[in-house]
Amino acid sequence: MNRIFNDRIIQRSGKLFTKSSYSRSVYGEQIIRVSDYYLRYWNPKRSKLSAAILLGLKHFWIEEDSSVLYLGASTGTTVSHISDIAHRGTVFAVEVSYEPFSKLLKLSESRDNILPILEDARNPDRYGMIAHGVNIIYQDISQRDQIEIFNSNSKEFRTARSAILILKLRSIDSSRNDMAILSKSIRKIEGFVVVETVDLNPYDSNTYMVILRRK
Ligand SMILES: C[S@@+](CC[C@H](N)C(=O)[O-])C[C@H]1O[C@@H](n2cnc3c(N)ncnc32)[C@H](O)[C@@H]1O
Repeated sequence: MNRIFNDRIIQRSGKLFTKSSYSRSVYGEQIIRVSDYYLRYWNPKRSKLSAAILLGLKHFWIEEDSSVLYLGASTGTTVSHISDIAHRGTVFAVEVSYEPFSKLLKLSESRDNILPILEDARNPDRYGMIAHGVNIIYQDISQRDQIEIFNSNSKEFRTARSAILILKLRSIDSSRNDMAILSKSIRKIEGFVVVETVDLNPYDSNTYMVILRRK
């Protein structure tokens, strides 16, 4: 049975796909041609957003015209699927390391709604003017100061009404008490309320997706 999560996310035989206008594989994923569009396999082992959806994520606010600020874009694996979903919107993709950024740059040259930004997400004032008017912040950065990075971006991008924050607990604190680290981290989030948390196990251990709504 096919289950459609939104117009651009399709589930077939337990597997997720994004509907795409692009036939080129980004990270070796399977592409299926369907009349005048393509279905791109969305691998949950490669993308935490796919994993969260398969694990029962309830709140999903990325729409076809969304403007998404993506922090920690790497080579663009998840960015490419968000670009399929927000196909009439824009993905502002921030990455600090040059090596993954060069692949991200290539990806952006083949798509018209990805804007790559080579910057440290700790300095949102440096890309505030470029990524103007974003609706959603997506952050996947495994750094000790993940929450501080998120707070500084949420202050810079006040138009963002919701956010998807991935918390890699071991990067924040190496102790074993996950629940204590998670609740301490969540308490430090400013300006947003938590509407849902998803434990990404078995796809990613000690990693949570936190869905946030602006207060
Ligand atoms: C876990 S990977 C992201 C994977 C990607 N979100 C995906 O699903 O395709 C984390 C990325 O964050 C980047 N990163 C780490 N610190 C950063 C910072 N301060 N600013 C921007 N990017 C950063 C790393 O270089 C790395 O590419």
